Amino acid sequence: MSKKKLVILTGAGISAESGLKTFRDSDGLWEGYAIEDVATPAAWRKNPQLVLEFYNYRRKNVLDAEPNAAHFGLAELETDFDVTIITQNIDDLHERAGSTHILHLHGEIFKMRSEKDESLIYEIQGAIQMGDVAEDGAQLRPHIVWFGEAVPKIEEAVPIVQSADLFVVVGTSLVVYPAAGLVNYARRPIPKFIVDKKIPYTSEVYNLTTIEKPATEGVSELKELLKSYL
Ligand code: APR
Repeated sequence: MSKKKLVILTGAGISAESGLKTFRDSDGLWEGYAIEDVATPAAWRKNPQLVLEFYNYRRKNVLDAEPNAAHFGLAELETDFDVTIITQNIDDLHERAGSTHILHLHGEIFKMRSEKDESLIYEIQGAIQMGDVAEDGAQLRPHIVWFGEAVPKIEEAVPIVQSADLFVVVGTSLVVYPAAGLVNYARRPIPKFIVDKKIPYTSEVYNLTTIEKPATEGVSELKELLKSYL
């Protein structure tokens, strides 16, 4: 028998217990910065130095963080299911936990790109500085989707969700579109689960089970429940 297709949408909440701050749990401030000052095209035009510093700092945070039991738990599900993770996170904790099919909707902190040509993408572990340029001579910027920018990977994500036999959401407030809208593409009859410290609001979702727990504990409970779908 072929494995069932399990599609998992994750957000900042799954990495919270690894010490990475979520976006909306701290008064609209993100590591002390207002989102519009660091994560928009306007911010980049106005003060690229500040934007680089902010992401250089976040890159260092992610390097220092480790995957937690929730990341590992989702990776282990590959033994029994055909798992795809669609993450809004820019960290690499799913990769480091061993998951093998991961789609990063909002970019990746360990990548940078030309500010002119989005197809010129490079790996980066250290810091990006003003004056660092891509092959086309344009300034390098983080390979991150900022507010107000298109989310090209959504085109890939929609058919993945549509083909799911089981759909899971872990640690996202489901307020940022188009990512939040993915929930509506899961076929109506399939079992759906949300794991979150505080279950986010969703409009009618059929066949939904909610697990209101921190991700590490919640994923462990989820794994027990999923056994009945093997
Ligand atoms: N375990 C489980 N869930 C948690 C935990 C935890 N330990 N801590 C927080 N959460 C939940 C919160 O209850 C909330 O529902 O994680 C969610 C975090 O929500 P947001 O901070 O809004 O993060 P996210 O949904 O990933 O944000 C989406 O917004 O800023 C942009 O591009 C950025 O990808 C990001 C997008």
